Amino acid sequence: MIDFHSHFLPGIDDGSDIVETSIAMLNAWYSQGITEICATPHFYAEHNNPERFITRRNKAFAMVQDATKNELQNVRLGAEVLFFDGISRYDGLHDLCLEGTDLLLLEMPFRTWTSHMIEEVGIIASTTGIMPVAAHIERYLDQPRKLLKEFLNLNIFIQSNAEFFLDRHTQHKALKMLKKGTITFLGTDAHNLGRRSVNLGPALDVISKSLGDNFIPKLENYQEAIIRDYQSDY
Ligand SMILES: [Fe+2]
Repeated sequence: MIDFHSHFLPGIDDGSDIVETSIAMLNAWYSQGITEICATPHFYAEHNNPERFITRRNKAFAMVQDATKNELQNVRLGAEVLFFDGISRYDGLHDLCLEGTDLLLLEMPFRTWTSHMIEEVGIIASTTGIMPVAAHIERYLDQPRKLLKEFLNLNIFIQSNAEFFLDRHTQHKALKMLKKGTITFLGTDAHNLGRRSVNLGPALDVISKSLGDNFIPKLENYQEAIIRDYQSDY
């Protein structure tokens, strides 16, 4: 299973602070049987640009590589890009996609959405060759119903955090959205080993218990097919 969303690279955002934390987080993933991890540091266009971001990200990754004697495998570098007005016309958006793909982890704003925002995400999906993957959908379920519906109908991909499946107040809704196919990618959004920890393994247990043992392998096949389909020829 791929963890589509994490902040384990050291010293680049509000995630892992030092390389030792990053290594401990990686060990937590491995102990849960998670072998493919997307490193998706926050990207805020207001304060950053793709070139500078990638340089810093590569440096942080190299630190982890050094500490693991270059044995680190199955990490894909990406970004969690916060939506901003004009994002569909932004130069360098492609450089922020998940390495080797045209998939872009997109963080929607937490303020109330407007129909213009939804339209702009639709424009990314239909005109740029980039396919958005909306990060942690569970944080937006109280957005205006009509806009949320329009957003979910854009035919983009949707990611949810493991926490959505672990919190007993939201678990039922999470399983329903996963079963229905609304959610395609899962992620820990792990920032550390404390409150925002590596918890995909326990979420997968909840999913298997509720939706059957075959559900996870099928989901994995589907995710792999998407990643193949969106392989970048950029
Ligand atoms: Fe995140």
